[in-house]
Amino acid sequence: MEKKLIQVYFDEYQDINHLKTQDASLLQAAREAIILSYAPYSKFQVGAAARLINGVILKGSNQENASFPVGLCAERVLLSTCSSLYPGIPIIDLAVSYHNQLGESNKPISPCGICRQSLTEYENVVNHRIRLILGGMAGKVFIIEKATDLLPLGFSFTDMK
Ligand code: THU
Repeated sequence: MEKKLIQVYFDEYQDINHLKTQDASLLQAAREAIILSYAPYSKFQVGAAARLINGVILKGSNQENASFPVGLCAERVLLSTCSSLYPGIPIIDLAVSYHNQLGESNKPISPCGICRQSLTEYENVVNHRIRLILGGMAGKVFIIEKATDLLPLGFSFTDMK
């Protein structure tokens, strides 16, 4: 038996003002996408924005449903938009922000398990890492070099070969 260790590094910034201009503007785009959220049940509005390799910026937001499990996270709405409008074009950076109507929005949130699976599938299909920029409406910002870092030992189509 051998013990194995999985470690992940990520960068923590004090706030949006400490980011490079391009990263700050993508996080700002994610913040702006919050207004398009449909979250009457959780009151937790999430916005996401992606920068494609061709320079295009696309936005997405969470879309809930009276039948709760039908709801979609902002990240997966955004990924579907990207792959529908620009199939096969890599996403370079993807920012996520949120507004919690019932509480604070001043620290980063990171994608849920299903979104992590979707993000890594996207990375694998287009063969390019997605850099994540995570921050609330204020406060610290996390930058994670690739989505796969958030899903160690994940399952992918290569496992089905
Ligand atoms: N949500 C997202 O859209 N992205 C996340 O990263 C976390 C959670 C949504 C799902 C649901 O509409 C609401 O936030 C509360 O969980």
